[in-house]
Amino acid sequence: MDKFQIREDPAAHLAGLRAWLKETEGQPLEEMSDFFTVRLDDYERHMKTWQDAYRALPDFFPFAMRDLLDLGCGTGLELESLFPVFPDLRVTAVDLCVPMLERLEDRFTSVCTLRGDYFAMDYPPEAFDGVLSFQSLHHFSPDKKAGLYARLYRTLRPGGVFVLADYLACCPEEEKLMAGALKRRRAAQNIPPERLVHFDIPLTPEREIALLEGAGFSVSFAGSFAGTSILTARRPRDGEGG
Ligand SMILES: C[S@@+](CC[C@H](N)C(=O)[O-])C[C@H]1O[C@@H](n2cnc3c(N)ncnc32)[C@H](O)[C@@H]1O
Repeated sequence: MDKFQIREDPAAHLAGLRAWLKETEGQPLEEMSDFFTVRLDDYERHMKTWQDAYRALPDFFPFAMRDLLDLGCGTGLELESLFPVFPDLRVTAVDLCVPMLERLEDRFTSVCTLRGDYFAMDYPPEAFDGVLSFQSLHHFSPDKKAGLYARLYRTLRPGGVFVLADYLACCPEEEKLMAGALKRRRAAQNIPPERLVHFDIPLTPEREIALLEGAGFSVSFAGSFAGTSILTARRPRDGEGG
């Protein structure tokens, strides 16, 4: 039996992905910010699929959380479930898509927003009690994520938690299928690795957990909600061990 149960029916999920890859073969890859800009009007309706995951989020953060860093915040849907539980929360929210961030700024005037690539930003040491990334990091390679996770560890205060709520691969086959497809499409379209494109390359929970543990976190798998899986990665307090 599948230890993590990422998908109810992994075989059907894989068949759907294979069909989609075939159907979209030859279509140009879309630049990350453009992808979300052109879909902005329909975006929030689409994301409602994960309302149970949004609702579950407050349970995974420290009780006394004051400062939160949100990576790939989009229009801020995830903050709607957090503010009622943490009313004094100070949020720093990062996104590279300006129209998405503008929606967030209209909705939550107290949030500090940063425009840009979260891989390219500096995060101050021990500045946050929580870090959140909801449905964003599955577009990036393990190498890129390993470096980011080490920096997230350092920007969390001891006892702080990084909640990774994301699309994870149901099996090594899915991971390989999607990474291989992106590699071929980039090569065919002559797109260099540093250009950010919208294409899903999820990792299995085992691989994601290994990356987080490699950065020093103590990791738990909290469950899957309609394809959004939640991992909690805690920075141990001094003397607690990993
Ligand atoms: C599927 S949306 C999720 C948004 C939001 N977290 C939510 O749940 O509604 C992914 C977001 O990640 C942002 N994003 C992707 N890669 C990014 C990067 N390298 N730096 C900053 N933002 C990024 C996109 O612009 C987009 O707004």
